[in-house]
Amino acid sequence: MPASQPPRSQPSMVMPRHVAIIMDGNGRWARQRRMPRIAGHRAGVKSVRRVLEQCLEYGIEALTVFAFSTENWRRPQKEVGLLMDLFLTSLEREVQRLHQHDVRVRIIGDRSRFPAKLQNRIAEAERLTAGNSALTFTIAANYGGRWDITQAVRRLAESVERGELRAGQISEELLQGYLELADLPEPDLFIRTGGEQRVSNFLLWQLAYTEFYFTDTLWPDFDKESFLAATESFAARERRFGRTSEQVERQQGAQ
Ligand code: IPE
Ligand code: IPE
Ligand code: MG
Repeated sequence: MPASQPPRSQPSMVMPRHVAIIMDGNGRWARQRRMPRIAGHRAGVKSVRRVLEQCLEYGIEALTVFAFSTENWRRPQKEVGLLMDLFLTSLEREVQRLHQHDVRVRIIGDRSRFPAKLQNRIAEAERLTAGNSALTFTIAANYGGRWDITQAVRRLAESVERGELRAGQISEELLQGYLELADLPEPDLFIRTGGEQRVSNFLLWQLAYTEFYFTDTLWPDFDKESFLAATESFAARERRFGRTSEQVERQQGAQ
């Protein structure tokens, strides 16, 4: 296959339904080129577009990307400001195209700390694309896994306070329903670029049984070949969910 041609999904390959990505390494990518960090973030937006296209091609139902963590406010104020600007302009630029591709866009995280204009754009993008069904594209912004669990617990406690629920009724399923992404299948594949092997407070609850894939490739360099390699690695794994290998093989044989 010539390199310019996008890879096609092989029907025989098991594809993840939901992919979650920590897009890391933008700053280092820029530094290697003696460019300001924001140039790396801008190049990173192109990688998001590429991966989105590939998810649509492969029939993947959900893509969730970590764009800004609750800890990223600790960065220099100038970088934070530029990241907010980039988020706003990228949303404005991309949303129509996403809509045309039947993509549902959603932002998870505490958006109350964002500039009002950005909050409005987020709401508009969500409203415009709410009925789309080819792919759910979730951007985690001012998101933290601990924040997510905390907000779910707070809302549950409020139900108990109002007398709608007894504490003894709280189960994993019930709590799960209050978390962000409650309506999506849990991520099957987690990818982190940029060489770091940590979760950095991303989807703590939802990653309980996700397959992890780490690569040294910096996010702006993460191309179609890279994503294909990640999905191939996923396809080669046996997911046992606590069972033995023999049980899984028997179950597969029965299908
Ligand atoms: C990830 O790239 C993007 C964000 C956290 C916004 P980084 O900015 O963390 O890049 P490195 O890790 O410094 O290379
Ligand atoms: C994680 O990347 C957050 C995002 C990609 C948005 P960081 O680069 O901020 O993570 P740490 O601080 O190195 O763990
Ligand atoms: Mg980083």
